[in-house]
Amino acid sequence: MAKLKSSDDIQMMRAAGRLAAETLRHIGQFVKPGVSTEEINTIVHNYIVERGAYPSPLNYKGFPKSVCTSINDVICHGIPHPEVKLNEGDIINIDVTVTLNGYFGDTSRTFYVGNSIPADRQLVTETAEESLARALAVCEHGVRIGDIGHAIQNYAESKGCSVVRDFVGHGIGKVFHEEPAITHYGRPGTGMKLVRGMCFTIEPMINGGDWRSKMLKDGWTAVTPDGKPSAQFEHTIALVGEGIEILTALPDDPIALRARALGAKVVWPQLV
Ligand code: MF3
Ligand code: CO
Ligand code: CO
Repeated sequence: MAKLKSSDDIQMMRAAGRLAAETLRHIGQFVKPGVSTEEINTIVHNYIVERGAYPSPLNYKGFPKSVCTSINDVICHGIPHPEVKLNEGDIINIDVTVTLNGYFGDTSRTFYVGNSIPADRQLVTETAEESLARALAVCEHGVRIGDIGHAIQNYAESKGCSVVRDFVGHGIGKVFHEEPAITHYGRPGTGMKLVRGMCFTIEPMINGGDWRSKMLKDGWTAVTPDGKPSAQFEHTIALVGEGIEILTALPDDPIALRARALGAKVVWPQLV
């Protein structure tokens, strides 16, 4: 079912993951009031292409842009547009995927726009970030998909937030989205056993209200049904040895550091 990666494959995934991470770090400095999502798209596109890679979203199943930009009540797959500008107090998820030498790296984070973020937007953002760290902390050879989902759901619901079900994490390699589907909710001890050599993403989307999603007429933009905010963080990982490599974490990545503090056995790919 799920494709196992060789150590040569994982070596290639390290390079793709690192480029995705560097792209996401690079775009951070441009996230401020007045900047359009189209400008973010152009900067991301050029950064990736200049490094010999391809921005995977572009033309993927007809997606028209090089990156996804999802603001406030947009859950995921927001389409960059010249007339959509960032405002003080917004939250925006920027989801970067690159294809480098045939391998994919996929990572996203939610950024604050400016310094005065409303409490409900802060809550979903902090909850999404911590829930990803907690999910990473349970990942090791033999973990079940339901264990990962439970770690996320249990934490998110304890904060009064809800977990999106209509979009999931996914196996990744020479294919953008492959088996298995990584659900961000679930019960401990249930679902497929994940084993050494698997690469997949974990990308919880956390809503401030209703867990459901509504699709806009463009066929891509998913929004919350009640207008409440939604936030997301994503990493691509490999199960290796007794623990994990977070392929899209740079050495100072706060989520990777937090996962390690929670007990994850994290190997930094940059140090391998
Ligand atoms: N990067 C998204 C994910 O995490 C997928 C985006 S598909 C696109 O799986 F077509 F919208 F770009
Ligand atoms: Co993904
Ligand atoms: Co992504």
